[in-house]
Amino acid sequence: MSSQAAPAAPADAGRSPVTQPRLAEMRARGEPIAMLTCYDASFAALLDSVGIDSLLVGDSLGMVVQGHSSTLPVTLDEVAYHVRCVARATRYAWLIADMPFGSYHASPESALANAVALMRAGAQMVKIEGGAWLAPTVELFARAGIPVCAHLGLTPQSVHVLGGYRVQGRDAQAADRLVADALALEQAGATMLVLEMVPATLAETLTQRLTMPTIGIGAGAGCAGQVLVLHDMLDVYPGRRPRFVRNFMAGASSVREAVERYRDAVKTRAFPAAEHAF
Ligand code: KIV
Repeated sequence: MSSQAAPAAPADAGRSPVTQPRLAEMRARGEPIAMLTCYDASFAALLDSVGIDSLLVGDSLGMVVQGHSSTLPVTLDEVAYHVRCVARATRYAWLIADMPFGSYHASPESALANAVALMRAGAQMVKIEGGAWLAPTVELFARAGIPVCAHLGLTPQSVHVLGGYRVQGRDAQAADRLVADALALEQAGATMLVLEMVPATLAETLTQRLTMPTIGIGAGAGCAGQVLVLHDMLDVYPGRRPRFVRNFMAGASSVREAVERYRDAVKTRAFPAAEHAF
């Protein structure tokens, strides 16, 4: 066991921290953004040193860290705790915190207080699940200087309304609603959009219509970037592996090599392949 207090990777003279303007520039240039979820300092140091552009402290921690069957039990304090763990060890990657179920629904003002708590814990952006109804919240966050990542398609916090973890936006009406939601959220000030389990053609159309980067998870190769849950792509989550996940540990001799393979596969658009899309 190392005696070092802070496990952040050593500074690399050739690298500078990823910022929001840099992410916008990558999107404009067509350089895919590589994102992974992360919940602790050791993985944060590893992912950061490999050059993963952005780390998401997702509320998926409720399933892969805490062992719940959904993300719903996760609290604001628990997300803040994991954000502090990750922030201590992150030198370069853009750090996003998920706002958990119930923490941004009552009013834009109470949502702002909760977002502030996550930013104080070390986040650089917060992520919220939902459509145009969140526009006033996004506007308030943007005015307060809090970058917002929206999340559309399969929104796991609404699993009981959606009836399971299934592909969204398949029919024309649902696709139109998704496009309208995305445009409203961008108009309100969102600067990133996670698209989860939506048809690849819809995600590609949306990516072309929006200025902000789209980050796909089960949304095909046409997005501006990709994200996976760390425990899924390392094949350590005991539950069912979704079809859109590739096991990057297969054939890798270390966790570091698996993460490097993920980074390279995203950067070269080798991942996701057709078999990971809908
Ligand atoms: O909580 C999470 O990990 C997420 C990703 C699946 C995008 O929201």
